[in-house]
Amino acid sequence: MDSLSEVEVQALIAHAELVDPVETPNNNHYSFYPQTLEDAGAYFRCFRVDWSSAYPALVARGLMVATPERVALTESGLAAARTVRAQRPPIWYFYKEYYTAGPKSAAFARYCEEVFGKHLHQANFSDMPQLDFLLEVAALDATMRVLDLGCGVGMIAEYISDVTGAHVWGMDYMPEAIAAAQVRTTAKRDRLAFDVGNLDALPYPDGAFDAILSVDTLYMPRNLDDTLRRIYRMLAPGGQFFVFWMEMVWDPDASRTMLEPNQTTLATALTRVGLTFRAWDFSAGTWGLMQRKRVVAERMRAEFEAEGNGFIYENLMAESIADSGEYDSTSCNFRRYLYQVRV
Ligand SMILES: C[S@@+](CC[C@H](N)C(=O)[O-])C[C@H]1O[C@@H](n2cnc3c(N)ncnc32)[C@H](O)[C@@H]1O
Repeated sequence: MDSLSEVEVQALIAHAELVDPVETPNNNHYSFYPQTLEDAGAYFRCFRVDWSSAYPALVARGLMVATPERVALTESGLAAARTVRAQRPPIWYFYKEYYTAGPKSAAFARYCEEVFGKHLHQANFSDMPQLDFLLEVAALDATMRVLDLGCGVGMIAEYISDVTGAHVWGMDYMPEAIAAAQVRTTAKRDRLAFDVGNLDALPYPDGAFDAILSVDTLYMPRNLDDTLRRIYRMLAPGGQFFVFWMEMVWDPDASRTMLEPNQTTLATALTRVGLTFRAWDFSAGTWGLMQRKRVVAERMRAEFEAEGNGFIYENLMAESIADSGEYDSTSCNFRRYLYQVRV
């Protein structure tokens, strides 16, 4: 993929979407099964470019064929398209837009302050009581090396370092987010560092950290078991890792067993790879957080739209699935846990 330009990547993916559309679980940022190339352009959100300049080079490389009527993928073109699409799924473009617009959005800053209790540019379901609970259990201090996996723009990593004095690294696969984190924290370089990296190929040596945390990000690895094994190896003796995790059951007729703390997707993966864990249930608080998300987002809708950030409003509404009633564990279709694994 390194040898392909963005316009070539988009042309390949768009054509693949017509003949072999992707079904991406855990992704509500794209309407699937486009009927036309124009529909497929929605995949790239605000980054959609004109693909026509890509065709001559793609044809020359044997990835596409051109007839007077149309251009189409060759067999090797479809294989190449599948590879680039796996590296840039629809949610990649969502995060690219989110981390381009979010740090400049005054509306989002005010929204986070009100909903979470502090503006840390949260893309998550952890309000400040949840985050501070994690810090209390983790008992971090200034001698410790901490890694925040999927750190986004790194405001949570910065908060943790500010509060505990720990040296915190943040890693995320979105270059725009890491660039924003680096610029914002230049004056704190002695205790904060940020790297572009992928959960599928973690770029840190074994034993490098005393604590690793991940807030609403471990849904993303292609192979959760492999990523968990790798995270465990990156911990120093006595180290620990923490994961904020949400489990949902969408089908009202399906079994709810997997909402149990030892039956979630994460818990079963931890068990499979031989790791024992402790879990705390934050579902009731998260229900209230979701209700706040919805109420505040609705109230601030015009502010988001005036900034040209209506997509942030829409995303906030889509992820707030609690109704206005009280939390009821028997009917609630999600659970939120903090998991802790110790070396
Ligand atoms: C739901 S957001 C959570 C962000 C942040 N932890 C927070 O709590 O606000 C998920 C984050 O994971 C990042 N991400 C998604 N897939 C990734 C991957 N394969 N490798 C590294 N980061 C990834 C996204 O860019 C995004 O910042």
